[in-house]
Amino acid sequence: MTPIPNLNIVPFVSVDNMMKLILKIGIEKFLTDLAAYVEDDFLRWESFDKTARVAAHSIDGVIELMPASDHSLYAFKYVNGHPKNTREGRQTVTAFGLLADVSNGYPTLLSEMTILTALRTAATSAVAAKYLAPKNAHTMAIIGNGAQSEFQAMAFKAMLGIKNLRLYDVDPAATKKCTANLKKFGFDITPCGSVEEAMHGVQIVTTATADKQCATILSDNLVGAGLHINAIGGDCPGKTELHRDILLRSDIFVEYPPQTRIEGEIQQLPEDHPVQELWQVIAGQAQGRKSAGQITLFDSVGFAIEDFSALRYVRDQVRQTPFFEELDMLADPDDPRDLFGMILRAA
Ligand SMILES: NC(=O)c1ccc[n+]([C@@H]2O[C@H](COP(=O)([O-])OP(=O)(O)OC[C@H]3O[C@@H](n4cnc5c(N)ncnc54)[C@H](O)[C@@H]3O)[C@@H](O)[C@H]2O)c1
Repeated sequence: MTPIPNLNIVPFVSVDNMMKLILKIGIEKFLTDLAAYVEDDFLRWESFDKTARVAAHSIDGVIELMPASDHSLYAFKYVNGHPKNTREGRQTVTAFGLLADVSNGYPTLLSEMTILTALRTAATSAVAAKYLAPKNAHTMAIIGNGAQSEFQAMAFKAMLGIKNLRLYDVDPAATKKCTANLKKFGFDITPCGSVEEAMHGVQIVTTATADKQCATILSDNLVGAGLHINAIGGDCPGKTELHRDILLRSDIFVEYPPQTRIEGEIQQLPEDHPVQELWQVIAGQAQGRKSAGQITLFDSVGFAIEDFSALRYVRDQVRQTPFFEELDMLADPDDPRDLFGMILRAA
């Protein structure tokens, strides 16, 4: 076991080490354990400092900072969303994040979060579905088969026992990639030629498309009674996936209303349209699914507490492994006030 180094050295989890950590733990266990951290933190929701993320929008995408603190730990994530990036061989979403000790302000972990965001988004989706999806759901449609899609499938398999997947993407190459990646995990996979075909006989649909516009990925006629909708792709002002009529027929569950009202599917609705906060359902203060015929919608945009949980989980796991580097990121003069002298002595 490699001990975490002294306070002035910050453990850094690179992309390479994150992949090694996931493979060592196992992806389904990673997702399930991470989901437990997310649930734990949602249970203590009221003790967190919360803020809607700070977003810098451009014509091509968005760059966001996402802070959260429980007064003992502080975390932030830097994340972008640029749907056009894949055409240039880049990811739509990339991220990194930092965990710090509130008592002295020192960073205690720096980590890649491109992969970790996909994992935490999937874990959070599965947590929501645990409370909202119909009992004994076995088949899920995934519309949008890009970077997030396999993570969603794996989390729903690990936590809800989803075995059958119906996949659709406007780009058949994405569906082919998703099908090939998931082949060895025991799913029964049906690649589909349209959204209509993908929705046939499903109890859950995950929408994970990337397009910087108000799109209609799902139209109202495709949504039958009892469906659970896990909508993760509408996460920016002017970027939605569901027809407004679906929202009017659904019971809507959100992470942090002040952020979701701006970024989520509910940006299409009046400010006072009733929504239920997911943490209250987890805490037993509100009901999740009430009836078999109810349409439930998790209007996911991704909230900072999920990243806080993910960084906390990685910090706890990586301690047991050699999968981090030691970053010389904090100045450490012998006399804390002699920062200048430290430079002179380095000559
Ligand atoms: N809610 C969250 O917490 C959260 C977290 C991460 C990503 N996201 C969002 O999820 C979405 C997917 O992210 P990604 O990293 O997988 O992106 P990606 O670019 O890798 O994949 C998106 C896929 O959607 C497909 N697509 C686009 N328009 C479509 C349409 N009309 N019908 C069917 N398929 C369509 C594209 O061909 C592509 O394969 C993005 O919008 C991203 O911003 C949300």
